[in-house]
Amino acid sequence: MTSPAGQPHPGLPPILRGQKALVTGANSGIGKATAIGLGRAGADVVVNYVFGREAAEEVVEEIKSYGVRAYAHEADVSDEGQVTAMVGRMVEEFGTIDVLVANAGLQRDAAATEMTLDQWNKVLDVNLTGQFLCAREAAKEFVRRGVVPEVSRSAGKIVCMSSVHQVIPWAGHVNYAASKGGVLMMMQTLAQELAPKGIRVNAVAPGAIRTPINRSAWETPEAEAELLKLIPYRRVGDPEDIARAVAVLASDLMDYVVGTTVYVDGGMTLFPGFATGG
Ligand code: BGC
Repeated sequence: MTSPAGQPHPGLPPILRGQKALVTGANSGIGKATAIGLGRAGADVVVNYVFGREAAEEVVEEIKSYGVRAYAHEADVSDEGQVTAMVGRMVEEFGTIDVLVANAGLQRDAAATEMTLDQWNKVLDVNLTGQFLCAREAAKEFVRRGVVPEVSRSAGKIVCMSSVHQVIPWAGHVNYAASKGGVLMMMQTLAQELAPKGIRVNAVAPGAIRTPINRSAWETPEAEAELLKLIPYRRVGDPEDIARAVAVLASDLMDYVVGTTVYVDGGMTLFPGFATGG
């Protein structure tokens, strides 16, 4: 699958041909780019969303234009019954699941002293419990089906969408940073537990990516200049930067990668303050 020449984000080779992928939170931002990227890489894709059906249907149409199958599925990843139903329908419609991208996430920012229990719980429910529920349901199907060598060397792949804030503390965002710190240990523990069953669990940790979640950090030139001080590579990331990393990590090109976080952050985790200080 090639893309028109001159595009800033070239298409991916068909490294996921014949695989069935579920991407949560796939109607905007990183999830949208990832769902499209996996479609470009040859996967059939379920586009999960919780609000915004029209946007999800547009993602579905774009994915189908690459000659693969796709449909949108509304579900709240923090609701156990809805997650079970979503994976159940996918097994009915596509036959199985090979790749889960546990991407759905949100922020509810507040100073720690002002943060309500609702703000705390919402972020933990979606960002951490939601990933767990989706991973659990996907893993059950991976174990049931086992390895199909024509499709993949692995029985299934889980890619957890984490953040640089799984290791960088973030004042004013204690709920979010705690959720992503949790994602790191959840991912590693699941990887350790599921690897003997042929399942690979890994994470991608984006830095500052130009999406709606952090619009205020890049939408004015002044804000972007401040943000760039935190990024040694001196550019804000694009959702497609993450999409490509996920596609490659989920493919057999990375078959021996188990329990690892791939930071896709322009060097944000390199303590840029120490380039001149310290
Ligand atoms: C957050 C963004 C933030 C980025 C870098 C992400 O996980 O969702 O709001 O810009 O981390 O700090």
